[in-house]
Amino acid sequence: MGSSVTILGLESSCDDTAAAVLRQDGDAPARILSSVVFDQAQLHAAYGGVVPEIAARAHAEKLDICAAQALDEAGVSLDRIDAVAVTAGPGLIGGVLSGVMCARGIATGAGLPLIGVNHLAGHALTPRLTDQLRYPYLMLLVSGGHCQFLIVRGVSDFLRLGGTIDDAPGEAFDKTARLLGLPQPGGPAVEDAARAGDPGRFAFPRPLLNKPGCDMSFSGLKTALLRARDRIVAEKSGLTLRDRADLCAGFQAAVADVLAEKSRRAIGIYLNEAPSDAVIAVAGGVAANRSIRTALEQVAHDNSCRFVAPPLRLCTDNAAMIAYCALEQYREGHRGEPEVVARSRWPLDQRSAPILGSGRKGAKA
Ligand code: KG4
Ligand code: ZN
Repeated sequence: MGSSVTILGLESSCDDTAAAVLRQDGDAPARILSSVVFDQAQLHAAYGGVVPEIAARAHAEKLDICAAQALDEAGVSLDRIDAVAVTAGPGLIGGVLSGVMCARGIATGAGLPLIGVNHLAGHALTPRLTDQLRYPYLMLLVSGGHCQFLIVRGVSDFLRLGGTIDDAPGEAFDKTARLLGLPQPGGPAVEDAARAGDPGRFAFPRPLLNKPGCDMSFSGLKTALLRARDRIVAEKSGLTLRDRADLCAGFQAAVADVLAEKSRRAIGIYLNEAPSDAVIAVAGGVAANRSIRTALEQVAHDNSCRFVAPPLRLCTDNAAMIAYCALEQYREGHRGEPEVVARSRWPLDQRSAPILGSGRKGAKA
């Protein structure tokens, strides 16, 4: 394939301001020349969740600094860039708009094409960037804002097999941590506490396992945990370390069971169209959880599927994945849109029913 393509990508759909420069020479794997992420966690810490207005303002202040740093670290000037890519949705609309306006400014000023990228497509295509996966593969996206199974067939061809109908698993981990007085982000804190716990002490529900299909639900699990906590507190007027560990272990085991069983079903559907090398890939912060990952690896192994998990810094929000998505489109001849529109909702699979709920981190699709 042709010569070298270099893309500048921007991401600002949630609480990370990110910019990256990506280059692909001919058919060689694309290389990340720089990937800068400014995390806003401190700005939102006091509010127990992302505050959209604070996020949008912080993105607007940081985006051009972030882009300049990414170009600088890559050692590339704008005249070596072939196209600018930006997350155009789904996400918190103020942040998405900040990104689109900044990217439009850069692209117009430098006379470059501007490519609007779907944030979820960025996550979904990451294993092609990191592991050069071939289409079609199965993707489980599990983060603080997303949870869905996708058969990834092409750069803009996705089949959504199911997803959460309420909270994302990361959101449930974060709420669990809050209910138990553990720090944020809740996932690592709950996982840590669960290590010393007995997952069998509390009989937490496995929501929607008795229903066919790949949809999931995690908000009832959080309510069950709240009830169990309140029962103990009423009996003993407080939680011991043991109680907390058992609650965390029980919660984590329930999430792992649900994700494992639904993955088994999703793999069953995917295998009908899979090539000889079937792959299930994961992305999102929750994929960092050891017991969830072990459960998923087991399901993959049982079904003769390869399990692929990109490095965590590329599983969580970043701009390299946005640049990569645009790179594939550029390689297919796409030269941007005259008017990139910011969208709060943007389902990857237009055929699937809209996802309910909009979540702490913005719309889920
Ligand atoms: O992908 P991510 O960085 O951001 C978005 O949500 O977009 O995911 C963050 C989420 C948080 O909810 C966090 O609690 C969860 O991933 N998380 C974990 C673990 N590490 C991060 N959940 C469970 N176990 C973990 N070890
Ligand atoms: Zn994300």
